[in-house]
Amino acid sequence: MRLKDKVALVTGASRGIGRASCLALAREGASICGTARTHDDLEALEKELTALGIKAHTFACDVTKSPEVAACVKQTVSDFGRIDILVNNAGIGGYRPFLDWTEDDYDRIMDTNAKSTWLFCKEVIPHMLTQGGGNIVNLSSVAGLQGYPNEGIYCMSKSAQVALSQSLDREFYQKNIKVSLVCPGGVETHFALGDGRTPDGANMKGFSSAEDVAEAVLLSVLPRSRSRIVNVIMRPMNEQT
Ligand SMILES: NC(=O)c1ccc[n+]([C@@H]2O[C@H](COP(=O)([O-])OP(=O)(O)OC[C@H]3O[C@@H](n4cnc5c(N)ncnc54)[C@H](OP(=O)(O)O)[C@@H]3O)[C@@H](O)[C@H]2O)c1
Repeated sequence: MRLKDKVALVTGASRGIGRASCLALAREGASICGTARTHDDLEALEKELTALGIKAHTFACDVTKSPEVAACVKQTVSDFGRIDILVNNAGIGGYRPFLDWTEDDYDRIMDTNAKSTWLFCKEVIPHMLTQGGGNIVNLSSVAGLQGYPNEGIYCMSKSAQVALSQSLDREFYQKNIKVSLVCPGGVETHFALGDGRTPDGANMKGFSSAEDVAEAVLLSVLPRSRSRIVNVIMRPMNEQT
């Protein structure tokens, strides 16, 4: 139980990597606040987490809306007393030729992926400073490290997370706030549907699993006094670098 007495707030907890991360952190004893928009999925997650014997709450929140983010963080601190780990995982993507993207697409993707990461960091970091430290994990992507055709706006949003993580790491590591970036390639989740991939999963064979990525999240936040994990790049076995 390497995370006993730690409290983790995980966004995008209703499915995929966020859900798997909640379970991985809980198995190490962390208390969990999981947030997303889909109430039924959150309820099922809360039951599963509680069955592991840890304290768990879920909270419906649209991560693009600053009042909802502030309320989510306030509620977590009120329920658990502190926040040791923040996992900024909620995200959306999409595949479209560059000239077909609309301003609405831009706002939706940038707000969900980039603005939400900023909003949660802004709300949580003051608590971490008061507590004397914490861990932040930002779920970016290999698409934040290099551009891909038909994914222009998604790549922009993911590279914004890379830039923010690097800035926060340099600004706060001496205050014992450790900021980690996890950059997966293809992962077999709802997110990866489209661009020829279908729910039967046949053409996602060889992709990483959500649990693989959750292990990287866990590794990033395990207590260690002499070092911090800054960047994890993961590639599925069917993908070149
Ligand atoms: N799958 C991949 O191939 C892959 C590769 C690299 C990086 N990533 C990154 O990994 C992260 C998780 O993706 P995933 O693969 O686990 O996707 P997923 O299965 O589609 O899950 C996405 C999560 O984000 C939540 N979400 C989306 N919009 C939201 C909003 N406005 N407010 C609150 N929650 C919202 C969803 O919950 P609700 O719909 O219930 O709100 C869901 O829990 C993303 O940031 C993605 O960019 C994924």
